[in-house]
Amino acid sequence: MDVKQLLDILSDGEFHSGENLGLRLGITRAAVWKRLQYLAVLDIPVEASRARGYRILGGMDLLSRDRILSALAPDARVLLGNLSCLLEVESTNSSLLQSGGCGDVCLAERQTAGRGRRGRQWFSPYGRNLYLSVRWHFDQGITALEGLSLAVGVLLAETLDRIGIANIHLKWPNDLLCGGNKLGGILIEVGGDLTGECVVVVGIGLNISMSDVLRDGAATRIDQPWTDLKQLGFSASRNDLCGAILSSLLPALNDYPVHGFEQYQDRWQSRCAYLNQPIQVFLPTGNCEGILLGVDGQGALRVATKEGELLFSGGEISLRSAV
Ligand code: BTN
Repeated sequence: MDVKQLLDILSDGEFHSGENLGLRLGITRAAVWKRLQYLAVLDIPVEASRARGYRILGGMDLLSRDRILSALAPDARVLLGNLSCLLEVESTNSSLLQSGGCGDVCLAERQTAGRGRRGRQWFSPYGRNLYLSVRWHFDQGITALEGLSLAVGVLLAETLDRIGIANIHLKWPNDLLCGGNKLGGILIEVGGDLTGECVVVVGIGLNISMSDVLRDGAATRIDQPWTDLKQLGFSASRNDLCGAILSSLLPALNDYPVHGFEQYQDRWQSRCAYLNQPIQVFLPTGNCEGILLGVDGQGALRVATKEGELLFSGGEISLRSAV
């Protein structure tokens, strides 16, 4: 059901009568009612008042291609391919893995099958967070891309710093944490020839105002403590944030084969969650305990164990504080 135009009207947070909505959309009041009901399916809380009509309390900051483009720095603009802002998609990562060109960007208001690392689901309610994927083509194979997901974490944390959201920590390999709670995550997926010309999709999920959805009663289970930018004081537009992220990400992707992870190592280390603390590492082959020493020049995890210092890398590995 197409609710885009209805949302465009209601996103101002003001009351609109059913009659007025019908007139503006060129549909019957019954059709308006159906669309309003569909908004509930999307977990968008619509308040109804007999006398005044319908509104979305607090309004909604919908994605806008034009606003993102105008927030983009010129050196990123020249690297951008096709920019699409979809209402709904299975996964922005899947969409760009299937087809696209270098520099294409896909955003969606909602993902029906958003995914995280290690086969997990990524909770993707409508219009509240950021679901952003960028497609990039590299011709040096995936070894030239070591540490890329950690580098993206650094770029995101630094972008957030610049807009006044401080104290973002990075949990290896690529979780963004604030106060120990998860704020976002990065999922990098690769296609094509892994030893030569390959396609990389960098997927970013950032919680922005998820608390609105949960407060309004959407049933959901997120299996770890989380936070969102709104709770951290963010009140700017998602579009401006998206422009700022792409402004740093696109030039960094372009530059990555030349300089690699080394230029990010110290920046990552300075934000490393649980640095010098006891951690547990979960491996497909079993678990291991030690003290977290940070990362090496390729982005591998350094852990001091009873057997000496060990290095870990690979998508199936995760860690947890053992304090
Ligand atoms: C994680 O922490 O497990 C990584 C989460 C990555 C989620 C983003 S949302 C945009 C993109 N599309 C997806 O399906 N996943 C990534």
